[in-house]
Amino acid sequence: MKHGDRASWSGQLAFVLAAAASAIGLGNLWRFPYLAAKYGGGVFIATYLVLSMTLGIVLLVTEIAIGRYARQSQSTAFMTLGFGRWNFIGILATVIPLFIMPYYNVIGGWVVRYLAAYAKLAFGGGAGAIADPGAFFEGFIAAPWAPFVAMAVFTAMSMVVIVMGVKNGIEKANLVMMPTLLVMAIALAVYVATLPGAGEGIRYYLVPDFSKCGSIGKVFLGAMGQMFYSLSLAMGIMITYGSYMRRTDSVKKSAVRIVGADTFVAVLSGFMVIPVVIMFDPASVETAGAGLMFVSLPKIFASLGAAGPWIGLVFFTLVLFAALTSSISMTEACVAAVCDFFHWKRRPSIAAVGVWTVALGAVSAFGYGRWKAFSPCGLPALEFFDSAMNILTPVVAALTCVFAGWALGPKRILAECRRDGSRGPSRVFNVFYIVMVRFVAPILVAAILVSEICRVFKIGGWSI
Ligand code: PHE
Repeated sequence: MKHGDRASWSGQLAFVLAAAASAIGLGNLWRFPYLAAKYGGGVFIATYLVLSMTLGIVLLVTEIAIGRYARQSQSTAFMTLGFGRWNFIGILATVIPLFIMPYYNVIGGWVVRYLAAYAKLAFGGGAGAIADPGAFFEGFIAAPWAPFVAMAVFTAMSMVVIVMGVKNGIEKANLVMMPTLLVMAIALAVYVATLPGAGEGIRYYLVPDFSKCGSIGKVFLGAMGQMFYSLSLAMGIMITYGSYMRRTDSVKKSAVRIVGADTFVAVLSGFMVIPVVIMFDPASVETAGAGLMFVSLPKIFASLGAAGPWIGLVFFTLVLFAALTSSISMTEACVAAVCDFFHWKRRPSIAAVGVWTVALGAVSAFGYGRWKAFSPCGLPALEFFDSAMNILTPVVAALTCVFAGWALGPKRILAECRRDGSRGPSRVFNVFYIVMVRFVAPILVAAILVSEICRVFKIGGWSI
């Protein structure tokens, strides 16, 4: 694709909204509240805030600036800027979204199924399929076809947006979904705060409790890993989205706003989830993973009486929008990577990515049912892909820092930040950026890598 043909956002707001839409996803809605509740409430929240405003901004600025400087997606940006030798980072950064998206869409399919069940319950009445959420969940993910069909429906939704393009598809979809998501999340948090007994849960969530955090290292690593996932780093997304950014827009200001929006929704989600969990099912604060969202919360909705189905409907609509906008961003990163790498046009690239997603998604979708026998490393396919990618992402992020800090040089990144015609970031930020990207960030990201390896291989009782 020639430079002049490249798609672009209609402005800085559209870019910030798109990047925030990618960042705000399942991680904000259930993983952040769960970690905060588990690791000492306010202690975790404060650590997270400090980390995202420092390391988070540095990593985001780096990826966005690389994309905008190269005007290429991750598959070719490193080759273009690094004269070939660094091409392998681009290949790895393309492999990550190509492998995450299929199983992410399987989970998106679960959300579609739950939304349909709550819609039926809210409008049709009756006990509904979801009266016993535990059995419903187990039965659904092991069903012969249902998880595959649900994944295909979810994939089709995100593909429609991608086919319509960057300005007409992604921007417009975000403009509808993101404000709706925000209004629903605020409404739910307010509703929860009015329930009798909510105060105790809010206190549990916000008040620092040092006795619960375990070691400070755990809090720090947990917050860092969460921030990393939540900001959609090392998946090529921010590079691709940066490549559509206009030169006149500010990289650093955008990064600050993206981090701000992402963190705001994460903290807000805690107000939505933690008080009800503490009120109705305190033991499930300890349940990470799918269980909290697909089993514990539906159990709580079932105990809310007539309001339950409606609360479930609003909640899963919100979750669907969050998952869909994140999936859209991953799909775009894959499509752009294929376009740039093979010099294909957009349509055939979309078709190729679509076929790949459904084919590989099938492996995860059938992994709890008909293809259960296929369990690499003893894990269901979905969990295997998730673990493998959790290890690969910090590797790519560390390499990206080394590339930006030592090969390309932080001065080039900072020069890209000044391209908007302003004087660019302050001197203090420039010095901070150079120190961070060269020394601090690679070490911190390597620490995430070690903690992920320990978690996946269950070394040292690590469970974050
Ligand atoms: N950042 C998203 C979240 O917090 C997750 C995500 C993963 C988004 C992969 C895009 C790609 O849930």
